[in-house]
Amino acid sequence: MEVKEKTGKDRSGVLKRIAGPVVTAVNIDAHMYDVVKVGNEELMGEVIKIQGEDTIIQVYEDTSGIKPGEPVVNTGLSLAVELGPGLLTSIYDGIQRPLSVLVDKMGDFIERGVSAPGLDHQKKWDFKPLVKEGDRVSPGSIIGEVQETNIVHKILVPPNVGGGTVKNIKAGSFTVDEVVCTLDSGTALSLMHKWPVRVPRPVQEKMNPTIPLITGQRILDGLFPIAKGGTAAIPGPFGSGKTVTQQQLAKWSDAEIVVYIGCGERGNEMTEVLTEFPELEDPKSGKPLMERTVLIANTSNMPVAAREASVYTGITIAEYFRDMGYDVSLMADSTSRWAEAMREISSRLEEMPGEEGYPAYLAARLSEFYERAGLVQTLSGKNGSVSVIGAVSPPGGDFSEPVTQNTLRIVKVFWALDAKLSQRRHFPAINWLNSYSLYLDTLHDWYDKEVSPEWNVIRSWAMEVLQKEAELQEIVQLVGSDALPEAEQVTIEVARMIREIFLQQNAYDAVDTFCDMSKQYDMMKAIRSFSDHAYAAQSAGVTPLQIIGVKSKNDLPQIKFIKDYKPELERILKAMDSEFNTLRSSA
Ligand SMILES: Nc1ncnc2c1ncn2[C@@H]1O[C@H](COP(=O)(O)OP(=O)(O)O)[C@@H](O)[C@H]1O
Ligand SMILES: [Mg+2]
Repeated sequence: MEVKEKTGKDRSGVLKRIAGPVVTAVNIDAHMYDVVKVGNEELMGEVIKIQGEDTIIQVYEDTSGIKPGEPVVNTGLSLAVELGPGLLTSIYDGIQRPLSVLVDKMGDFIERGVSAPGLDHQKKWDFKPLVKEGDRVSPGSIIGEVQETNIVHKILVPPNVGGGTVKNIKAGSFTVDEVVCTLDSGTALSLMHKWPVRVPRPVQEKMNPTIPLITGQRILDGLFPIAKGGTAAIPGPFGSGKTVTQQQLAKWSDAEIVVYIGCGERGNEMTEVLTEFPELEDPKSGKPLMERTVLIANTSNMPVAAREASVYTGITIAEYFRDMGYDVSLMADSTSRWAEAMREISSRLEEMPGEEGYPAYLAARLSEFYERAGLVQTLSGKNGSVSVIGAVSPPGGDFSEPVTQNTLRIVKVFWALDAKLSQRRHFPAINWLNSYSLYLDTLHDWYDKEVSPEWNVIRSWAMEVLQKEAELQEIVQLVGSDALPEAEQVTIEVARMIREIFLQQNAYDAVDTFCDMSKQYDMMKAIRSFSDHAYAAQSAGVTPLQIIGVKSKNDLPQIKFIKDYKPELERILKAMDSEFNTLRSSA
């Protein structure tokens, strides 16, 4: 109680002022980001500002009805998550309370002040040690494993605990609290540990990502790839396909673990996620996708501060699985809701507003978040990665607003959704002219080796055709396509094929929903082959009308929907050859 004597304060104080999610307490000894219990109902909150006598707290639960004079108690702890077996398949709120436990405790209507641990503390897990007595372990070392779902959960020495020599280690069935290993230093290790969410988990080294996160989405893998350990943003107006894209990534990206943070765009959207996600099947294992997923859900009736917390909770869980040596992909849908939460809290704090009312630290918070992505060498010497993909929902689809602009400065991949494309039912409605990937150079060798030495060439070719089309479109709009030189009429046709055959992809078709790189390459090559024939024919005197009339190419789009497409593709290519031969010989 040394502190008390010095300051006249101790861990409990009283409430002075309540302003929505932000409350002020006095006479409490607190540090930044201490977790406090607010009011008679002990609502959970976090210290976000200390100003003279006043301690300002953001509360993760609805504060209506709480009155000045009610008690406030500082736990002296930081907001932390429980990390251990039981994370997978879980659905949490922003402060890692399992929604199922909340619902059991109080029915569908979430009451306040309910505390529920993130992990099940009764359940027993079979622990298999991987070290033995006398072995030396250090922070972040793997001491054993638990078969959690079809994922092996590695048990780590917590990164913030000193290492030492293993004095004792047990095999068998344990709860997450039971000691499975002791070190000569006296440190006792169990299957779980806690980690403060605002502190990035340490790694040995961050590395330059050189392998793409393959998503099976042609416009992403083919034109604008994200690296494993990379960052990407999907901005787009309402209804343009942010959620569908994020869910496609959750289902199909070749990450081993998925962390999905839903921030409730519309009223019922999270409800949809909550009912739909558990139904989704993991296309690789045929088992429920939830077996390798942790879902964090903020419904729109949850207070804004919980959204803030959910982002940190999610990224910390992602880092934890990365530390086991896994590739993790984290989706946040939508980061705009998080930014709005920051704006609301900031305005309650009466801080000087920055652009459009967002706090001046918006950019810093966003970059701290995305910087937690990366391909790393873990403390135990393995490679692991966290890829972060954030949706952004700019009001009215206007990309010049602060959240989109600040995100753009940080992330390396930009998948710009476009309302005009979604209105035309061109899906995914990603605009190929303003999207980009800054990983093309670092991924170049991978595509060269793993797909084909021709891939990078054909990709550049396709981008050129699409850009050329955009220029030509301006002319076409003025004078009509017949006024274009014949070669450029061919270009327009080839660009149309790239868009309609390659770029358009139906997330709801059983086959087209996922397209591997070798099929992507075959499809692009087929279009290229048409293009080569077409220009050759054109210079030999065949008219654009005849070229556009080549029938066999009309069968190309069907390739998307055929699983074993190769025989059909071969047939089309042969037919195309012979059609062009006929055209040229009669030209
Ligand atoms: N890749 C896709 N394939 C087919 N339909 C899509 C695709 N992307 C989006 N859509 C259509 O657009 C609708 C809106 O998408 P959604 O992801 O909910 O938008 P947002 O999250 O941006 O508001 C979907 O319900 C679906 O009909
Ligand atoms: Mg959405």
